[in-house]
Amino acid sequence: MLAKIEQLLQEIDGLTAHSAEELEALRIKYLSKKGAINDLMTDFRNVPADQKKAVGMKLNELKNKAQERIATLKEAFENQDNGAAELDLTRTAYPIELGTRHPLSIVRNEIINIFSRLGFTIADGPEVEDDWHVFSSMNFPEDHPARDMQDTFFIESHPDILLRTHTSSVQSRVMEVSQPPIRVICPGRVYRNEAISYRAHCFFHQVEGLYVDKNVSFTDLKQVLLQFAQEMFGPETKIRLRPSYFPFTEPSAEMDISCDICGGEGCPFCKYTGWVEILGCGMVDPAVLEANGIDSKIYTGYAFGMGVERITNLKYKVKDLRMFSENDTRFLKEFESAN
Ligand code: DAH
Repeated sequence: MLAKIEQLLQEIDGLTAHSAEELEALRIKYLSKKGAINDLMTDFRNVPADQKKAVGMKLNELKNKAQERIATLKEAFENQDNGAAELDLTRTAYPIELGTRHPLSIVRNEIINIFSRLGFTIADGPEVEDDWHVFSSMNFPEDHPARDMQDTFFIESHPDILLRTHTSSVQSRVMEVSQPPIRVICPGRVYRNEAISYRAHCFFHQVEGLYVDKNVSFTDLKQVLLQFAQEMFGPETKIRLRPSYFPFTEPSAEMDISCDICGGEGCPFCKYTGWVEILGCGMVDPAVLEANGIDSKIYTGYAFGMGVERITNLKYKVKDLRMFSENDTRFLKEFESAN
């Protein structure tokens, strides 16, 4: 009998269970009424009186050990179960929702990439500007309508301080601290006092370009803009320059690209002209070079400025400008694959 008890003690030491069912089977095998230990208890009656004490102690040890062992295994299971209940195993392995790049950032980055490859570097300037950098240094006459309260947000207590109405102010910021060759693009936000509607907002984004060096000509401007248009809108894109007026360029032009919806045939989008306007440009007026400390007898330059919203509309056909600033994630998610 002692040998049998010894054997069971060893067995119990090595018990393991991989499921609740296995554990229950062990409990039945050792501890139930018909289990091995109870069988031994029954046999105990037949143990000779002089051995009863020793065998009885061993038998008790076996019983305690079996109970302990099975309780330990059970505890381990219950802990495991609790852990599983806290973990939602159906959850995706990628629980962090990644945001998407804003369409205006996508297009701005694309513009920056194209001009970077053409040798332009990025320049920056403040959105809260002074009259000099936004208007005076850019050759705006004193009575130019853009200076009017209706177009420009002025700071009431400081009439000289305003929210820049265009990124052309960065041209001045760059020229006042550097000498040619200058070849920069200036992306940034601008502000105008407009009633907000689907086609106008009180703030929007522009990218300005400025190139000043010896012998810079209108041909250089045209070539760079053609390159830009074809990289941005596809190799079949044509450009057209129409004479225009800006205080800071002479001559000035507005650039159209062939409508990429109808390919120039004429459609409602291009108002049946086959062309859509995308930017303003021209040769930097010598008065602007001089006002910003650059010798206009030695240097010439070209400049251009485009609206990022406008280009985004052309590329992605967003009909309502307000979508860009409402942060509706259903709209923003549509650009998930764009970049
Ligand atoms: N500043 C102009 C605007 O806001 C855009 C522009 C036109 C910029 C011609 C230029 C340029 O540099 O040469 O409408």
